[in-house]
Amino acid sequence: MPATRVSRWGMRYFAVALASFLLAQAWMAAGLTWPFRPLGASTTLVAVHLLTLGWLSTLMLGALHQFVPVITARPLGSERAAGWTLGLVAGGLLLMLAGFLACGAGAWPLALALPLGGLSVTAGAWLAAAQLGRTLASARPLPLPGRYVAAGLLFLALVPALGVALALAVAAPRWTGPAAAGFLFARGLPLHLLAGLGGWFTLTAMGVALKLLAMFMLAPEERGRRGELAFALTAGGLALAWLSGWGGGWAAAPEELGQAAAAAGAALYLADLARLYGQRRRKRLELNAAFAAWALAALGLEVLALVLARLAGSTAAWAPVLVQLVLFGWLSGLGLSQMIKIVPFLTWIERYGPLMGRTPVPRVQELVDEGRARPWFFVYFAAAATGVAAAAGLVATGGAAAPGVAGALLGGVWRAAALAQLLGAAGVGRELLRVRRMRPAVAATAPSTAAGRP
Ligand code: HEM
Repeated sequence: MPATRVSRWGMRYFAVALASFLLAQAWMAAGLTWPFRPLGASTTLVAVHLLTLGWLSTLMLGALHQFVPVITARPLGSERAAGWTLGLVAGGLLLMLAGFLACGAGAWPLALALPLGGLSVTAGAWLAAAQLGRTLASARPLPLPGRYVAAGLLFLALVPALGVALALAVAAPRWTGPAAAGFLFARGLPLHLLAGLGGWFTLTAMGVALKLLAMFMLAPEERGRRGELAFALTAGGLALAWLSGWGGGWAAAPEELGQAAAAAGAALYLADLARLYGQRRRKRLELNAAFAAWALAALGLEVLALVLARLAGSTAAWAPVLVQLVLFGWLSGLGLSQMIKIVPFLTWIERYGPLMGRTPVPRVQELVDEGRARPWFFVYFAAAATGVAAAAGLVATGGAAAPGVAGALLGGVWRAAALAQLLGAAGVGRELLRVRRMRPAVAATAPSTAAGRP
């Protein structure tokens, strides 16, 4: 692990992210989203963007501002830009949420808060993409995790801009006109999802997971031909699917080819990560690596479910289940499991890094009680799996509003799962807070604990 300087914005990003995650799940448990409201309802969209922008984008941007310098062994251009990004994204998100609710209530001109907030988020995302992209570009040849992150950043530049176009069609349809609005909903919305969930989130998460798992499990980060092929297929496939997705009928073949290549790339990546677990030199699995495996299993399930839904021609019908699985199983599962390592690690560097080599210091593991944190992860993952299963049952039986006991029962299970998921995530959050508050005294540390080894 190269010497690391802790970004003073990192923990603030993580705090905003975790607060958004808890709020979104409370909103779901309160029954304000699908399956109790339509998918496109303003209250559903509030939860979706709390999760995608408030939680996942903020978490990933916070992590990237810390880890791009580690991946490239080069400092970031500007700490101040990291602060501006956080302000623009968080402030823009608040405006967007107000805008979604105003659109739902038909409150013109308050609805314009939606595109305005989206513009602020776009400015923040572009600033981050430019600053992180420049740092990555200065390090050639870029290691494999860096290439995943660079590809993810290209998609990050697209998602919010497309969101603003959609927001104009939702908030001010008179301005966009019916033809442009129809085109945006038919073509732009699926591509907004593909660029966000597939390009920005999944590619970035694949790169960060590879870097962190290799680093903390002491396994080789360069993955040879198989690793290169997995990256080329996933990133190239997503790019092809996204570009040809605008074309309609004539572009259906390249779009399908892109989707198939991306699915094959993700499967190859998963097989390679299974190999990486086998190659690790740190034999005992720490909490982050143990639960990252659960998140990776959810990614495998997602790929399988996407292929099956595509073959059955029912991707749109199953979209809520597919989105729930990717958001809570793969992305949030990975995010939570990595936070339980990253937060103690950065806290350690901040507090004990300057003392390293001069006096015995505690080890990173002493800052977190893994035994106490573990049950919260079980609660979180079990609840997320139950929620996805209930969502699948709801889609299969006609939804929560369908007549009969099945809908009501499954709706109840879905809501209880959302509540349990909230509980699990809050439990992990409390452990993270403890890490920040815990201060093992340097003097009280036994001399046997390594001086100079995190
Ligand atoms: C990382 C960033 C983002 C991700 C991953 C994301 C993801 C999503 C998803 C999954 C949906 C579908 C929700 C559903 O059908 O229930 C959606 C819809 C939407 N998003 Fe985003 N979004 C992002 C950023 C933005 C931004 C910055 C804006 C700008 C205001 C925006 C505006 C919209 C709009 C207007 C819709 C709904 C269109 C409709 O009425 O169906 N999004 N987004």
